[in-house]
Amino acid sequence: MIKHLRSAADLDAATATLILDTAAEMAALAGREVKKLPALRGRTVVNLFYEDSTRTRISFEAAAKRLSADVINFSAKGSSVSKGESLKDTALTLQAMGADAVVIRHSASGAPHRLAEWVDGSVVNAGDGTHEHPTQALLDAYTMRSRLGRLEGLRVAIVGDVLHSRVARSNVLLLSTLGAQVTLVGPPTLIPVDLPEKLQVSYDLDSVLPDSDVVMMLRVQTERMQDSYFPSAREYSRRYGLDVPRLTKLPEHAIVMHPGPMNRGMEIAPEVADSPRSTIVEQVANGVSVRMAVLYLLLGGK
Ligand code: NCD
Repeated sequence: MIKHLRSAADLDAATATLILDTAAEMAALAGREVKKLPALRGRTVVNLFYEDSTRTRISFEAAAKRLSADVINFSAKGSSVSKGESLKDTALTLQAMGADAVVIRHSASGAPHRLAEWVDGSVVNAGDGTHEHPTQALLDAYTMRSRLGRLEGLRVAIVGDVLHSRVARSNVLLLSTLGAQVTLVGPPTLIPVDLPEKLQVSYDLDSVLPDSDVVMMLRVQTERMQDSYFPSAREYSRRYGLDVPRLTKLPEHAIVMHPGPMNRGMEIAPEVADSPRSTIVEQVANGVSVRMAVLYLLLGGK
């Protein structure tokens, strides 16, 4: 087993599949009255969040607690970070407290890689800048597999603000490892330039929909935009928003995903987000099982 999960590229097909299979076992626990396993009793998991988060933070906390680990939640607000303490000094503090795993979210791409040099425990990337978000990709793959029965050969359209999306980057890596076929869709200004050759790109959402098994909508990340990347929200939504008429262009079995938080009415219409095709709430539930599997396996579970 690998020690850290910093990038989806850390995972080969066998390891990724082991995580997904273990997550399925963990999911069985969610149906029980007592949702706890003793697996990580006596181990310490630190959640180190320098950027805002709802789902990911709660999900990692629930996952560690369900495995009986001691959980320390650190958020930059209210800590010595606001006094200018560096990541390195914070890391050394965590090291002194004996953290077995550190889950980090940071606005700087590559922060988890640096952190892994300073602590002895396992490092899990919970989102670093515009770089990666590997556990999101795992929970997305888990959701696709449980809804559609396989990943091999699946046609996945990832739509919207790909340029700023760590979710897209990690999904592209993991889905390629697991044999799915990814098409990136969005305005040319929001699609990165130096893409691997086997990735397909389209600027026309309507033409991609009929040939997709999965449509993954991405949030337009205005907080990361210094320039204007499209004329107006209305124009964006008209060309790249998933509304009800577009939903009907999808094959019968296709599912609609979104990592959250959503801009309802912009990249996704409320009726689509709440439709039976949408797996958005399921993705959140699956996130806990997948993060349980990750913590369990990284910390030496068998
Ligand atoms: C994403 C993130 O923070 O990278 N959300 C998440 O983790 N569920 C996507 C986003 O912010 O748009």
